[in-house]
Amino acid sequence: MSLKGEAESRAAAGGRRARIIAIANQKGGVGKTTTAVNLATAFAEAGRRVLLVDLDPQGNASTGLGLATAVRGLTTYDLLRSDSELDAAMVPTVVLRLFLVPGSPDLAGIELEMAQENRREFLLARALRGQVGVFDEVLIDCPPSLNLLTINALAAADSVLVPLQCEFYALEGLAQLMRTIERVQQGLNPRLALEGVLLTMYDQRNNLTDLVATDVRRHFGKKVYATTIPRNVRVSEAPSHGLPVLLYDPRCAGSQAYIQLAAEMLDQRAGTRSTGESPVGKSQGAAA
Ligand SMILES: Nc1ncnc2c1ncn2[C@@H]1O[C@H](COP(=O)(O)OP(=O)(O)OP(=O)(O)O)[C@@H](O)[C@H]1O
Ligand SMILES: [Mg+2]
Repeated sequence: MSLKGEAESRAAAGGRRARIIAIANQKGGVGKTTTAVNLATAFAEAGRRVLLVDLDPQGNASTGLGLATAVRGLTTYDLLRSDSELDAAMVPTVVLRLFLVPGSPDLAGIELEMAQENRREFLLARALRGQVGVFDEVLIDCPPSLNLLTINALAAADSVLVPLQCEFYALEGLAQLMRTIERVQQGLNPRLALEGVLLTMYDQRNNLTDLVATDVRRHFGKKVYATTIPRNVRVSEAPSHGLPVLLYDPRCAGSQAYIQLAAEMLDQRAGTRSTGESPVGKSQGAAA
């Protein structure tokens, strides 16, 4: 059965919709891709069916999952241009239950190419609509920019996960990201919520880390995950082997942290459902 057919029959059987999470921060090198690849892997290992969409022209998530640029066929670029359906563009990965739509350097040109296009903010939403029902989780790895690609991710997503590196400039730019999220909520995608803020490359022995973390928790309250991702050399080695760190070294502190993050997110959702609490209302209160 095609992906669409499978998604439709699952929806007809009362199956829940996939949760679409954009992983975004316009600041470079804060751990977006590392989080996308390893959270996706942790979800898949927890039995979830996961799709990772590589929306970054750098294609780091694709390389990190062992898919070199030379062997990529259809990519997110073809999906955005409606030259391909999701069914054809996605590929299985080294991780069971984890599928990937590879990134492409061509994505860098999409803004100019689509300049005359109506509703060009909805290219990704259109490509995913009705197609992702077979998945439980869809993660979108965004580029380090608030450009049309990131706006497409925010327009298609249910929520945004913001990785934040605990350093002096971490909070600079965060206000701009929050304003962008609010603008998307108001204009393009009212259901968009703040999924959470994730402290990455966390170094407990560093005073500055502590100061920044305290500040972030003061601003965002419960929206900051209890789980933090430690700075861990195994995490940075794994991509050069084309593997998520969870496969490269399952026991290292970085792998354990991503497993814990996935568990925290799934627990949180179960709690939200049982209390009927609105994640949108909560995020706006915390981001104000
Ligand atoms: N927990 C960690 N411990 C050690 N190194 C890490 C950790 N997380 C990420 N890194 C390293 O930091 C660098 C930046 O991480 P990553 O590529 O995930 O960031 P990014 O936000 O996706 O970057 P970009 O903005 O360029 O897309 C990479 O070399 C990565 O291996
Ligand atoms: Mg990246």
